[in-house]
Amino acid sequence: MQDSFDTVRLADLRRRRSEKWRMYPDDVLPAFVAETDFALAEPIRDALLDAVRIGDTGYASAGGLAEAFVVFAKEWFDWSPDPRRVVLVPDVLVGVAEMLRVLTEPGDRVVINTPAYPPFWPVVREYGREIVEVPLLRGPEGWELDLGGLEEAFARGAKAYLLCNPHNPTGRVFTREQLQTIAELANRYDVAIVADEIHAPLTLPGASHTPFVSLDEVATQHAVTVTSASKAWNLPGLKCAVAVAGSESVRSRFTALPHDLHARAGNLGVIASIAAFTQGAPWLRGLLQHLDRNRSLLAELLARDLPAIWYVPPQASYLAWLDCGALGLGADPAAFFLEHGRVALSRGLDFGAEGAGFVRLNMGTSSQLMTETVNRIRAALAKTSPSTPATTRSR
Ligand SMILES: Cc1ncc(COP(=O)(O)O)c(C=O)c1O
Repeated sequence: MQDSFDTVRLADLRRRRSEKWRMYPDDVLPAFVAETDFALAEPIRDALLDAVRIGDTGYASAGGLAEAFVVFAKEWFDWSPDPRRVVLVPDVLVGVAEMLRVLTEPGDRVVINTPAYPPFWPVVREYGREIVEVPLLRGPEGWELDLGGLEEAFARGAKAYLLCNPHNPTGRVFTREQLQTIAELANRYDVAIVADEIHAPLTLPGASHTPFVSLDEVATQHAVTVTSASKAWNLPGLKCAVAVAGSESVRSRFTALPHDLHARAGNLGVIASIAAFTQGAPWLRGLLQHLDRNRSLLAELLARDLPAIWYVPPQASYLAWLDCGALGLGADPAAFFLEHGRVALSRGLDFGAEGAGFVRLNMGTSSQLMTETVNRIRAALAKTSPSTPATTRSR
């Protein structure tokens, strides 16, 4: 079944100058970085065109952003945060870094779940914090939080937990009950929670996202959620995100943020995010249906053509975390597929040691281009003689 998200044309995409389309030569099909290929949602395009027409390219003003986010939070998550607790940050990663800076001290340990979004390592270390890795567990249903492992890390003195929910790269959406347990553990061991929820607006049918700071005030007294419109509506280059304090005590720490932090965000980002939050829901509903179909299509294509690849369809977003270990390509199958299939996937090892033998595939495109990505993987394997790849499983 085709939909309006299937109308993207490769020739138009090749004219883009974003990272996805400029990193590799034109004979490589990019399916790596988390950008999507779709045309902008109309209300966002119109708001940006209006801004460009009147030359509105000065410094960002946060005015109206918190209120717009509250409208979206109510509609999407049935959550009504206090707009006074919502602050503009330049992007989610800077937001995460700044929140860790105001909630922890240099030398403190910060827990992450591996495999993890690769920039978490440099961002946590940039401010002199140390990383404690608590790997996700792999069960028959897919990836799960290791709550015992988390408690152990908290008990050993970790000061913060950088929770990624929905989780990149596995696409797992943690349940309200799991978040509640995390909150109880965090309170017991006095651990601050910084929840990166950038993929939350992309929660797919069948799953339900609970913003961490929508839990009760006791649970969220040391918590902050950082999120944005940037993944769902593909606006990361415009630079705008929000941090939402879980308590007055956390909000009071916002005074320690650089006072001109808002000016490091992009004015066009704020304009686009307000349009997304207040008028972007109908478009987003259509996108979620398209991504739902793409994740099922990928399952069908892999089952038919590449049954040795292990794939659990994500519960949110458009990233597929694929275990290629049984193909015998060694720790870095992405390098093999790039060389022999001219298709660029994210390298599993960049997501931590657990990523050996994995690749991450971006499904945020038309069904045709996603099918072409799979075809190139298949062709790479068919092209090489059976003795070319290493014969041992990487994990
Ligand atoms: C989990 C996660 N956090 C943060 C980011 C980066 O967000 P930003 O561009 O807003 O810094 C990404 C981008 O893919 C991501 O997946």
